[in-house]
Amino acid sequence: MFKIGTILMANRVVAPPLAGISDKAYRILAQSFGCGLTHTEMISDMGLVYGQARTLKMADTAGEKPPVAVQIFGHDPVSMGRGAAVLEKNGAAIIDINMGCPTPKVVKNGEGAALLRDLPRARAMIREVVAAVEVPVTVKMRRGWSDGEDTCLELALAAEEAGVQAITLHPRSREQFFSGRADWNVIKKMKQLLTIPVIGNGDIWKAEDAENMIEQTGCDAVMPGRVTLGNPFIFRECLQLLEHGCLLPPPTLEERVETALLHLQLCCQYKGEKTAAREMRKHLAWYTKGLRGAPRLREKINQTFSLEEMAALIRTLEVRG
Ligand SMILES: Cc1cc2nc3c(=O)[nH]c(=O)nc-3n(C[C@H](O)[C@H](O)[C@H](O)COP(=O)(O)O)c2cc1C
Repeated sequence: MFKIGTILMANRVVAPPLAGISDKAYRILAQSFGCGLTHTEMISDMGLVYGQARTLKMADTAGEKPPVAVQIFGHDPVSMGRGAAVLEKNGAAIIDINMGCPTPKVVKNGEGAALLRDLPRARAMIREVVAAVEVPVTVKMRRGWSDGEDTCLELALAAEEAGVQAITLHPRSREQFFSGRADWNVIKKMKQLLTIPVIGNGDIWKAEDAENMIEQTGCDAVMPGRVTLGNPFIFRECLQLLEHGCLLPPPTLEERVETALLHLQLCCQYKGEKTAAREMRKHLAWYTKGLRGAPRLREKINQTFSLEEMAALIRTLEVRG
């Protein structure tokens, strides 16, 4: 267990923020597989300040198992503070600032990982957000902008001093994007520097990696990233190993099918049939990865706009075994 501010997490397994992926349906599944903390996708501060319906919907965590951290991104410290205040008013339990997104679309505006090469702005942003809300503020960051830079250490210290209550570190540089290895040594260094909790992220591909990361770095919690795509089971696997020392077998085919169907149903419930049909294609491709007949099945799924038909196609996996 660990605390973010006054909020006690039930365990050390944290679900990641994933743009276009960690929506309400994804989070409800992550929560049902035991996550102690989940994150929304990154949400634009300007969308919040202007009260855009689509943005506000992304920030809606009503009815979910708490705590959910709502992630905000932007480049202007003042509007980040205003956006954070909107999030708090709408019920966010924790506000997480994105200082890691590497995509050109984001960094060209001075947002996300670009803040790692503009520390005065990053500091001002943290101060504004912390001052604007009562709920705990956290920051998720990469290691630095260029390879070999450990800017994150200086930034994390400044963040702690400014009242931030936890840091998530993905120890790859912006330059690396998702290539190469995440350097867990930097997580260890950060943990030694700070008194607030450090959530370790990067290259957790199986439950044993989560255990090794905690052992090697002393981090307070772990956040699996890409491995969670079509695989919420990984949360349960990490939890069982960390809390009870037991290695679970992989999910059965039946469980994979049932979970994919539940994901489909939740997505439809929250986004409507049309959007769900479009968005679920990628999720279903992930759920069925490696299964016999999956490529042919995916082709068929990509040709239909009917959720009922998608569900029927997924069920054929069970029949084929
Ligand atoms: C498709 C995709 C979307 C992502 N979206 C976000 C995001 O919105 N906010 C964020 O802080 N990180 C985001 N990330 C980064 C992940 O949260 C995580 O830090 C990264 O994948 C490293 O962990 P891994 O090596 O276990 O995948 C995203 C990553 C991917 C692959």
